[in-house]
Amino acid sequence: MRETRLSPDNLIYPLFVTYGKNTRKEIKSMPGCYQESVDKIVAHAKEVYSLGIPAVLLFGIPEHKDETGSSAFDPHGVVQKAIRAIKNKIPELFVITDVCMCEYTSHGHCGIIENGDVKNDPTLYLLAKEAVSHAKAGADMVAPSDMMDGRVEAIRISLDEEGFADIPIMSYAAKYSSAFYGPFREAAESTPQFGDRRSYQMDPANRREAIKEVALDIEEGADIVMVKPAMTYLDIISDVKESFDLPVAAYNVSGEYSLVKAAAKLGWIDEKRVMMEVLTSIKRAGADLILTYFAKEAAKILNK
Ligand code: PBG
Repeated sequence: MRETRLSPDNLIYPLFVTYGKNTRKEIKSMPGCYQESVDKIVAHAKEVYSLGIPAVLLFGIPEHKDETGSSAFDPHGVVQKAIRAIKNKIPELFVITDVCMCEYTSHGHCGIIENGDVKNDPTLYLLAKEAVSHAKAGADMVAPSDMMDGRVEAIRISLDEEGFADIPIMSYAAKYSSAFYGPFREAAESTPQFGDRRSYQMDPANRREAIKEVALDIEEGADIVMVKPAMTYLDIISDVKESFDLPVAAYNVSGEYSLVKAAAKLGWIDEKRVMMEVLTSIKRAGADLILTYFAKEAAKILNK
């Protein structure tokens, strides 16, 4: 009678790649999640795949950050190295990369800054370059998370021109300006040094605008559309599922994870049951894919 069934192959596990060797540093605000150097990431990716989770999403923490985030498209950047290493050892694991500037810029914004403001159009060129460099390193799919207007089209055109017509784009299409990203910014060391992301991310009070944002990304060539965050945006996931015929992904973000971890640590909730309820509700709302830091723990339960 159960209408909604969760499976490990609905899940995508995010990984944070850092520079150096033999490094594995726990992210304080996200217990159980780590910043890891390439050698450690490969072993971790193996564990993820062995649990039946088919895909990982890579974020980079580069050694050097600058105004234009140039290490984002460095062929020897942390993400590029990690892609090559993972695809070499575990070719069956589907490798998705987060395409954004905020992890690579010294100011922590998702685009380039001119006169104190993020400039949309000049950023498109950098994002396209980053996406192509991930594809060249062997990424199976790119996931732009910056929320600049027109970036899906810019990335699609560049990928096609460079011979990567078969690399799909999962766009962070309805991405809200959310306080739930707090712990992630510690994880990716990407807190904006001034201002906030409200000029390019969406107002949490807006529902219909999500449909507009998703429609634009689909028109530009998105293959999978994402809603982010997930737990407090189930109505948006449901709307997007009803309105479009593409696969829908939902990102169960860092703050949503940390809330559960913190309450569990205090003994206030049953962590496993709450985790499964959260993930099931995201799927019930309409998500085909769930990006979640709970992926490994959930897969262990589902595999039993
Ligand atoms: C980069 C990006 C962010 C997240 C995914 N990609 C942070 C942000 O936009 O501030 C958040 C993920 C999470 O909180 O788990 N733009």
